[in-house]
Amino acid sequence: MPVTMVLGAQWGDEGKGRAVDALASKADIVARFAGGDNAGHTVNVGSEIFKLHLLPSGILHNQAICVLGNGMVINPIKLLEEIDNIRALGVEITPERLAISTRAHIISPAHIGLDTAKEKARGDKALGTTLRGIGPTYLDKTGRKGIRTAEMLDIEKFAELLQETIASANEVIIEHGVELIDVEKNVQAYVDAAERLRPFIQDTMIILNERLEKDKFVLIEGAQGTLLDVDHGSYPYVTSSSTTSGGALAGLGIGPKYVDRVIGVAKAFCTRVGAGPLPTELNDEIAERLRGTGENFWDEFGTTTGRPRRCGWLDAVMLRYAVRLNGLTELTVTKLDILSGFDELKIAVGYTLDGKRIDTPPTTNDELERCLPIYETLAGWQEDVSQITVYDDLPQSARDYVNRIAELAHVPVKMISVGPERDQLIHVE
Ligand code: IMP
Repeated sequence: MPVTMVLGAQWGDEGKGRAVDALASKADIVARFAGGDNAGHTVNVGSEIFKLHLLPSGILHNQAICVLGNGMVINPIKLLEEIDNIRALGVEITPERLAISTRAHIISPAHIGLDTAKEKARGDKALGTTLRGIGPTYLDKTGRKGIRTAEMLDIEKFAELLQETIASANEVIIEHGVELIDVEKNVQAYVDAAERLRPFIQDTMIILNERLEKDKFVLIEGAQGTLLDVDHGSYPYVTSSSTTSGGALAGLGIGPKYVDRVIGVAKAFCTRVGAGPLPTELNDEIAERLRGTGENFWDEFGTTTGRPRRCGWLDAVMLRYAVRLNGLTELTVTKLDILSGFDELKIAVGYTLDGKRIDTPPTTNDELERCLPIYETLAGWQEDVSQITVYDDLPQSARDYVNRIAELAHVPVKMISVGPERDQLIHVE
């Protein structure tokens, strides 16, 4: 069966790019289905560090066609910046290698301005969005007044639509004390961007389905994480798209019959950026150790926003939830190396809510905030595991930790990352 999905099993930033990168060398297509430049993948190849926000990590593998699916929201200026940066590193990007769906929605300066204005208006209830215009763009999409990439093929009409959108956003923005958007300058920048992006805008549903009918291998790269899903996450502290496996099908226009492998990527601990419940959150020196100092690009500071991430112990209640929601068939556990040197490690195996034990997350945030994790304590390990490439060479306590994750999640762990380099990855037989 030709489709493998790689999805975040936590709150985003799980290291999905690593798992995608490990599989992309065999892929005919690598496709993204949701979100926009709120995502951020860092892929490290040799001495080069690739920061990707819109382009799938598969762009680094020359044989793969990269698809930006209909479920995505795309800032054309940011996309071009990324294309130019990646080209400067010697990677070829042509319309044969990059296909942008005609049905994806455009993030305009109006949406970015509105994101800022709305966050400001929320005051201490701010969601902590990435301020990339994601929410307002999806709002226009479901409100049936969005601008789709196909509109870029008719420049005059595109300019008109943009002008209208920005002018009406300015009326709202001004009430919130946010800087007005310069209509003329921005329309011109978007028109220029449209001229450059036009060759890449294609019917990606056809591209994907024609390849799938020929049994070609399609790798789907998730963005954000399961627990930020607009339906299944801790609403309203979520992103505005469907980040789970169901969203992947809708966001690309393919059927479920092709999917046979759904990989959930989870860090060996938990992190979250922005507001919202994080039941195992720590605010002590353990959190600081997990976060790192920010000196290394793999420390827990946002790739997109640079914000420090909130950190905590691994939460198996949420992991099981992610397994069910996505129909995960396996897990990739990332950043196991960060846990070296702890005397003991904890995993939340259940919660206590109002005195009762529960094993699945409650629906409301009020309840989730009241949940107290029930921890299981496991022995830590002192050895540096970052150079280990064979599972059996890991210290016994590290293997016990990984095995316990698999047991608690009810799916096997098939890959483990132990460092940021491409080859710091253990395949578990
Ligand atoms: P938005 O997607 O910018 O609207 O942000 C909504 C929430 O999702 C905020 O808490 C963000 O911090 C979070 N978020 C969005 N994208 C990512 C991501 O790629 N990684 C982690 N968190 C994200």
